[in-house]
Amino acid sequence: MAEIILVTSGKGGAGKSSFTAGISRALAADGKKVLAIDCDIGLRSLDLLLGVSDKVVFDWGDLLLGRCTAEQAVVSAEVDLLAAPSRFNDAFTPEAVSETVKPFKSKYDYIFIDSPAGIDRGFELAAASAEKAVVVSTPDSICVRSCSRAFDELAKLGVSDVRLIINMFEVKPVCKHKLLNIDQCIDETGVQLLGVVPRDPNLGYCSVTGNIPGEFSPSTLAFSRIAKRIKGKRVPLVCE
Ligand SMILES: Nc1ncnc2c1ncn2[C@@H]1O[C@H](COP(=O)(O)OP(=O)(O)OP(=O)(O)O)[C@@H](O)[C@H]1O
Ligand SMILES: [Mg+2]
Repeated sequence: MAEIILVTSGKGGAGKSSFTAGISRALAADGKKVLAIDCDIGLRSLDLLLGVSDKVVFDWGDLLLGRCTAEQAVVSAEVDLLAAPSRFNDAFTPEAVSETVKPFKSKYDYIFIDSPAGIDRGFELAAASAEKAVVVSTPDSICVRSCSRAFDELAKLGVSDVRLIINMFEVKPVCKHKLLNIDQCIDETGVQLLGVVPRDPNLGYCSVTGNIPGEFSPSTLAFSRIAKRIKGKRVPLVCE
């Protein structure tokens, strides 16, 4: 049975989709069956980040509306994908989205739901079937505050198992007190740390080149460590 994990941040551009793609790939590389669900209605990106955009025909909205079967809706690849619909529909309620996701639980080890920016309607739909959540923050006060707000909203929705990912971490500006350090991010979000992903330009290039970052790129190594921590192994937070 899959764990259903929401990836959210409140603020846009913190790296939710990049994290969803990276952690899904790391777990799949370790033999786990992973489904990634793009919940960013109208602004989908996971198909590009997973390199399957030319394979997308249907999306989870089509499945919810009965326009296709589950087999047709899922793009099968190293990481399976349910793409996001291109526009909202009144039928997209939290209950309906949750019912649409439920049958996939028994078929996967992990289901990651990539939330849109914000804590409004799209966030509520994305959170509808979440059992756990990861909040992704960059090490700055604006993003950290938005993660703290997202954490509060998750509590209201009954999602209490929440962990923090600090993304785009850079040592030099932190040492110069230009960015928040790891302890400050934890204290100000109030969320327990799951892992740290360094700033890695390779991540930015992959949606354009279609090439995923190499196995020794800093982000790939970080996702691999975080995947181990998700599986309950004791590994260091950052590379030594
Ligand atoms: N660790 C990283 N190092 C360098 N660039 C990164 C990193 N993580 C994400 N990025 C870049 O930051 C930008 C935003 O990332 P991404 O789309 O994953 O964020 P998002 O939170 O999903 O955004 P949105 O709120 O719009 O959905 C992208 O250009 C991505 O390549
Ligand atoms: Mg995104």
